[in-house]
Amino acid sequence: MSANRPAAVVVLAAGEGTRMKSKTPKVLHEISGRSLVGHVVSAARELNPEHLVVVVGHASEQVKGHLAELYAGTRTAYQAEQKGTGHAVRMGLEELGQGLDGPVVVVCGDTPLLSGETLTALTATHAADGNAVTVLTAEVPDSTGYGRIVRDSATGAVTAIVEHKDATEEQRAIREINSGVFAFDGQLLADALGKVRTDNSQGEEYLTDVLGILREAGHRVGASVAADHREILGINNRVQLAEARKLLNERLLERAMMAGVTVVDPASVLLDVTVTYEQDAIVHPGTQLLGASHVAEGAEVGPNSRLTDTVVLAGARVNNTVADSAVIGEGATVGPFTYLRPGTKLGAKAKAGAYVEMKNATIGEGTKVPHLSYVGDATIGEYTNIGAASVFVNYDGEAKHHTTIGSHCRTGSDNMFVAPVTVGDGAYTAAGSVITKDVPAGSLAVARGQQRNIEGWVARKRPGSAAAQAAQAATEQVAEGN
Ligand code: UD1
Ligand code: CA
Repeated sequence: MSANRPAAVVVLAAGEGTRMKSKTPKVLHEISGRSLVGHVVSAARELNPEHLVVVVGHASEQVKGHLAELYAGTRTAYQAEQKGTGHAVRMGLEELGQGLDGPVVVVCGDTPLLSGETLTALTATHAADGNAVTVLTAEVPDSTGYGRIVRDSATGAVTAIVEHKDATEEQRAIREINSGVFAFDGQLLADALGKVRTDNSQGEEYLTDVLGILREAGHRVGASVAADHREILGINNRVQLAEARKLLNERLLERAMMAGVTVVDPASVLLDVTVTYEQDAIVHPGTQLLGASHVAEGAEVGPNSRLTDTVVLAGARVNNTVADSAVIGEGATVGPFTYLRPGTKLGAKAKAGAYVEMKNATIGEGTKVPHLSYVGDATIGEYTNIGAASVFVNYDGEAKHHTTIGSHCRTGSDNMFVAPVTVGDGAYTAAGSVITKDVPAGSLAVARGQQRNIEGWVARKRPGSAAAQAAQAATEQVAEGN
């Protein structure tokens, strides 16, 4: 294992990716919650290389910034002009300096499905066969655009890689292609790169020419055929981006199901690579689990929910909900049609019911906010019930203020809690109250206008109307003693 440890991995990510037709550099487009280059760097890191360098060029500051955020301390090399993959690798090696001892792996920044296992298998083959270079190849249904693997008809040995644009008709018929992933002997690679010429249709330094150069110098050139050609899919346009997302999503769902998660309708569920789960979690149709979301044992999410960086603890039930950076306690229920914004923490068995929005709110164990309410910047104790259609009035137009409600409270429907305000333990509030003053523990707060009935108003002000006739009939019935 450690014998195969690469001295370096060079990730090529300097190209613009014009076919994406995007203001965003190609390698920063995302699938399953990670950038294309992020997927590649993450797979490369599984090799535990001594050095890892990403060659950047187009929009280099943006790509560098992204890499620094992803993995602090990621080294980059700058390729000012995109003069070809060979030139890019040269820039990478220059950054790392002399004296690389051992294998050097080269990968492209636009092959996000490449797994760490496949890279590990490549380095193992490379070491076991004692090759100067080992190229990862695959048989693909349509090899258009790829470099073709040319083999000796007698021995089957790889003799060269010929780029599509430089290939003959006969060579274009070859289905085995270059994935763009290689393991090299570091020293031989550096020497050979100095001999790569630019007399090809694109006037570029092709990394692929290194194979022919090494072979002619009498070194061993090998190939490792990928088990699944889909893994080396290179992303050049948005159709391929969607294809890769679908394949990766299927891989992630399969992993989840094999780990004991029930996914009712895999075709309608999206997972990010960073999502975690426990067994007997259930994911209903139309659900997206994103970022660092976690679904614990026996919890159910969906249908039609999108959870971002949200933790759903054991046995909780989340239905038709959008949640961002929330924690949903054990056995809690959320939804349907609920919006949990950052900083929402629901205690065990708590409830955020239909048409409820919460933000920066800590809700105690067993506390219920069942209907049509906004709870912003609040702390609520245990086993309290918040009446329907209540609003935590947290914003005075300039600043946000906090509301505190105690445990075992019963607040009436249609209450406004005008923050900052505190309701003590065990207090009640009357329906329709606008609570602007603190409510002491155990008291009933009534904060609304008194009701006044003006008798006979309809007969006087709306004579002859349907309402007046109905009122008249009711009065007569009472008079007749019915
Ligand atoms: C390359 C290979 C081809 C292979 C294919 C697999 C060469 C000459 N061709 O072709 O054999 O089948 O990948 O997908 O190697 N890059 C730089 N600097 C450059 C040029 C490219 O960093 O000067 C980077 C790009 O950002 C990209 C990668 O190298 O990540 C591959 O470049 P691209 O132009 O996509 O190569 P292909 O034409 O696809
Ligand atoms: Ca190209």
